[in-house]
Amino acid sequence: MAGDLEGKVGLITGGGSGIGRETALLFAREGARLVVSDVNPESGGETVELVQRAGGEAVFIRCDVAKGSEVEALVAATVEAYGRLDCAFNNAGIEGDTRATTITCTEENFDLNIEVNLKGVWRCMKYEIEQFLRQGSPGAIVNTSSLAGLVGVPRGNAYVAAKHGVIGLTKTAALEFAKQDIRVNAVCPGAIETPMLNRIVGGSEKGYEMMRKMEPVGRLGKPSEIGEAVVWLCSDRASFVTGLAMSVDGGSYAQ
Ligand SMILES: NC(=O)c1ccc[n+]([C@@H]2O[C@H](COP(=O)([O-])OP(=O)(O)OC[C@H]3O[C@@H](n4cnc5c(N)ncnc54)[C@H](O)[C@@H]3O)[C@@H](O)[C@H]2O)c1
Repeated sequence: MAGDLEGKVGLITGGGSGIGRETALLFAREGARLVVSDVNPESGGETVELVQRAGGEAVFIRCDVAKGSEVEALVAATVEAYGRLDCAFNNAGIEGDTRATTITCTEENFDLNIEVNLKGVWRCMKYEIEQFLRQGSPGAIVNTSSLAGLVGVPRGNAYVAAKHGVIGLTKTAALEFAKQDIRVNAVCPGAIETPMLNRIVGGSEKGYEMMRKMEPVGRLGKPSEIGEAVVWLCSDRASFVTGLAMSVDGGSYAQ
């Protein structure tokens, strides 16, 4: 049976770890050929090896989404590798300073959050949509926002601002290019077990326990549970879905 992304060329940023890595494996399972990108070449290369070991086709291209010229080159290199681009998961992100409040947050922390988590997504969309238009074919984009893109989080002001902004960028691009059959959606993950979350809880079992207690489903999410939603949003099965900020959070946003 053909996979949901059979024949498509995918691009994933932040593909070297956590949600990006698991989504890369799912893209390959569903038949996409893909570019795995990350600022970290070691972990990105490892993801490509995992994809290839599972029988998929992928290449690694290094890119720092905080640099416009690198993002432009990433999209060009994707087209050079596979001839086109059909779906992109703009997922690279950082947690920044997770202790700073509105008054203790530094200019540096605020700027870094905006550069990577917000402008990084805009830069990716800019060059991906240009490529879709050049091809004259439909395209699908999924941006990674967060539960923190929908609600406030104490000690997360810059991250929260960036992730709220991702939803605004998503809705705007969705409306701008709907007539060209370019769909743009966002996923809003809750607490997902990844290296990022491990850094946030300081690796402590007590920290994990506290997080689990806050979850309606009584457990944390798995990166593949975000990946499955991303695959669906990128597939033709979601052909009438655009401009959506989809919570994938075990019910947290419903609380
Ligand atoms: N884990 C969670 O609970 C959670 C919840 C909500 C949203 N998110 C978001 O999901 C995305 C993935 O997070 P994760 O938990 O898998 O984190 P992670 O730290 O495991 O992975 C993030 C990846 O992004 C890469 N990256 C960081 N800065 C980059 C840059 N400037 N350019 C390119 N790549 C860069 C890192 O090298 C890493 O491989 C992030 O956008 C994050 O904000 C995570």
